[in-house]
Amino acid sequence: MGKFTRVTGAAAPLMRINIDTEVIIPINRLVGHKRGEFGPFCLEPWRYASDGSEIPEFVLNQPRYRDAKVLVAGDNFGCGSSREHAVWSLADFGFRCVIAPSFGDIFYWNCFQNGVLPIRLPEAQVKELAAEIETAAQPLLTVDLETQAITTPTGRTITFTTDPERRGALLEGLDEIGMTLKLDAQIRAHQFRDRESRAWIYRREETARVARLLILAGDGIGPEILAEVRRVVEWFIKKRQLPIDLREELFGISAWKAHGDLMRQQTWDEIVGADAILFGAIGSPDYDKIPADARKVDQLLRMRKELDLFCNLRPVRTLPALGASSTLRPEVIAGCDMMIVRELCGGIYFGEPRGREKLSSGGERAFNTCMYTSGEVERIARAAFDLARARSGRVCSVDKSNVLTETGGLWRDTVQALHDRQYPDIELSHMYVDNCAMQLVRAPKQFDVLVTENLFGDILSDCAAMVAGSLGMLPSASLGPLRSDGGRHALYEPIHGSAPDIAGKGIANPLGAIMSFALCLRFSLGLAQEADRLERAVDAAISLGARTADIAQPGEKVISTKAMGDVVLAELEHIQC
Ligand code: NAD
Ligand code: IPM
Ligand code: MN
Repeated sequence: MGKFTRVTGAAAPLMRINIDTEVIIPINRLVGHKRGEFGPFCLEPWRYASDGSEIPEFVLNQPRYRDAKVLVAGDNFGCGSSREHAVWSLADFGFRCVIAPSFGDIFYWNCFQNGVLPIRLPEAQVKELAAEIETAAQPLLTVDLETQAITTPTGRTITFTTDPERRGALLEGLDEIGMTLKLDAQIRAHQFRDRESRAWIYRREETARVARLLILAGDGIGPEILAEVRRVVEWFIKKRQLPIDLREELFGISAWKAHGDLMRQQTWDEIVGADAILFGAIGSPDYDKIPADARKVDQLLRMRKELDLFCNLRPVRTLPALGASSTLRPEVIAGCDMMIVRELCGGIYFGEPRGREKLSSGGERAFNTCMYTSGEVERIARAAFDLARARSGRVCSVDKSNVLTETGGLWRDTVQALHDRQYPDIELSHMYVDNCAMQLVRAPKQFDVLVTENLFGDILSDCAAMVAGSLGMLPSASLGPLRSDGGRHALYEPIHGSAPDIAGKGIANPLGAIMSFALCLRFSLGLAQEADRLERAVDAAISLGARTADIAQPGEKVISTKAMGDVVLAELEHIQC
């Protein structure tokens, strides 16, 4: 559809009332013609006599109105049957605009669909305009949609109004489909949110599109545990027909060894283009061997910051069969199920200034800055409250506001204010971080959703690992905000590190990394049922007694990283969801 901005041309006065669509385009002309061919039949009953000759006195047959672009008509123009052909025939004849006191409803909206501008003016104004056109030397009008003004043959200006959305669509040359496509990003974002919050009303195929998953195994035990994750992902692709495009890039010391670069542009492009990243670990004594400049930037922290992965979810569950693996008493941890929500893009990890400098008086001084904005606190608190609504409705916010009165104070005030404003249904408590560390080992079951800032979340989640029996059991999801295209960046990693003490031995526990892929199924792919399937396979493996060294009791059989992967894969074959 062409754009309508301004039209200058002859206007034809046709001041009859109730000009219906049967006169505009007779029904017997609808068959056998395509759009673009209806011009000759426009107003046919009035233009031609029954013998086919023109009726000379009819307005459109008069030389001064033959090329008219604007039609000025009486009340109720376009009434009668709803045929869209009526607008087509006017447009095919050459009309770009119809001015009348009122229109048939459907005809009126059809005009916008087909690039014809219908203008409603008070009856007296239309009559006056028609009279002016008839008496003018030249029946010329200018209709300007941008300014919503008509310039009459004598140079008068008549203003008019149009529905703002329809006006915008005409100015841009968009029909209804074009208008819908223009909202594509908003519609997709809405659908994404809806699929996320009400996944159960969608069929699985509707939630599935090809998702780009990127494996970055990284350092230390990363490659060993991610090899098992890869086998699990491949099982889902093959056996559950999940539409996943699985890619892998070198990351960390292995990237340096292969390319002399810790982060090649190609790898970064893959990171930015991925729907989700499955990450292993970072950290190795070998970093000390590469130039200080090259390792200045921690590439894991860079991903977190640049992809804005502010929302770090660290679920902590005690599996019944693992009660004895923990150093905590079984009855203290039995049935524990909490969610640590860690802010991941702010605080002392990223605050400026930071530095280390020599003092003229001798010695050195080093400093880091802990900094938060209320916006950063609010968005992570919102994530915690939303999660709590889907769980037990309790949130404990952890800070150190008694000493860090600035950042801690802002944290506490912002969480409380958001709660009071928008989440009064949630039971909110506040706790100092030192007490929280103690409570996590004393009585962890008191916690459901625990929200805290970056550094405290790091420490408390390692502490909570004992509730699950081993650091190797804990998964995590790091999520960015919803983008306007409906997607969001996401990275999934076990919470442990590269474990240099056991790296290369094939004995690391891969379950934290495997359960991180379960979180990916749930949060990035919207496949809650498949996530449940995988978590149940892990639970079953543990129930069957599969134990890597970190979770084995003295005397229990210890299996390798790969053998643990084998048990999970075998269990996946049996799980019915
Ligand atoms: P770590 O988490 O690597 O290891 C702590 C202890 O837990 C070690 O004894 C280790 O053997 C054990 N452990 C960890 N994961 C295990 C697993 N899957 N199975 C069995 N045992 C496991 O912490 P660390 O030793 O303090 O740090 C080592 C390196 O890792 C450092 O360079 C550190 O910066 C880095 N790190 C990275 C991440 C990450 O990549 N997200 C997280 C924490 C630490
Ligand atoms: C974690 C790790 C990271 C952190 C390190 C490796 C930067 O300990 O993910 O818990 O401190 O956040
Ligand atoms: Mn950590």
